[in-house]
Amino acid sequence: MNEKEKMSFTVRELGASDESLVNEFFDAMGGESRALFNRRDYNRRGALKYCRTKDKTRRYYVFLSEEKIAGYVFFLDFHTTVPELGIALRDELAGQGIGGELMRFAIDTAREAGAGGIQLTTHVANVRAQALYEKHGFECRGLTKNGMELFYLLKFIK
Ligand SMILES: CC(C)(COP(=O)(O)OP(=O)(O)OC[C@H]1O[C@@H](n2cnc3c(N)ncnc32)[C@H](O)[C@@H]1OP(=O)(O)O)[C@@H](O)C(=O)NCCC(=O)NCCS
Repeated sequence: MNEKEKMSFTVRELGASDESLVNEFFDAMGGESRALFNRRDYNRRGALKYCRTKDKTRRYYVFLSEEKIAGYVFFLDFHTTVPELGIALRDELAGQGIGGELMRFAIDTAREAGAGGIQLTTHVANVRAQALYEKHGFECRGLTKNGMELFYLLKFIK
């Protein structure tokens, strides 16, 4: 594909038959992304669990391209005023601004659901993610208790 050509994605909620897509996505993740995003396989396990049983307090959305997961967006505590966001892109798609597309989708989704904002945490070493969050209006509110993560908050202006 021409590098300048914009990729198009099918976006939908993660479903019961998506376990192999989820496993392929996490298997393809390189060491750096695993260390920054999927320590102890925590996020893979969360996504697989959602495929098996839809947890009403969560939402998982996948961005599909060529029958693979290009990236995904998920919310924990989606029913609360300030849901917690997670976001990840395939390594080979990083650095092309696609994270911004995922983020715009996440912000629109939370707003449409009536949230007052979005919170998230990210590893202190994840400078790419931090740049993305700050670009989209998130404010860094400092370190979390474990000293390894930064806490970010985006407040929606009504
Ligand atoms: C984090 C992630 C979603 C970012 O998406 P992306 O499409 O790669 O991000 P972008 O290309 O839009 O880059 C975001 C910004 O970071 C900047 N950036 C990239 N690498 C950087 C670096 N090493 N240092 C500082 N800034 C950097 C870019 O310049 C860009 O800012 P700009 O648009 O003002 O130029 C994606 O890389 C990803 O999914 N990574 C693996 C999983 C992960 O870490 N998820 C987040 C966990 S909290």
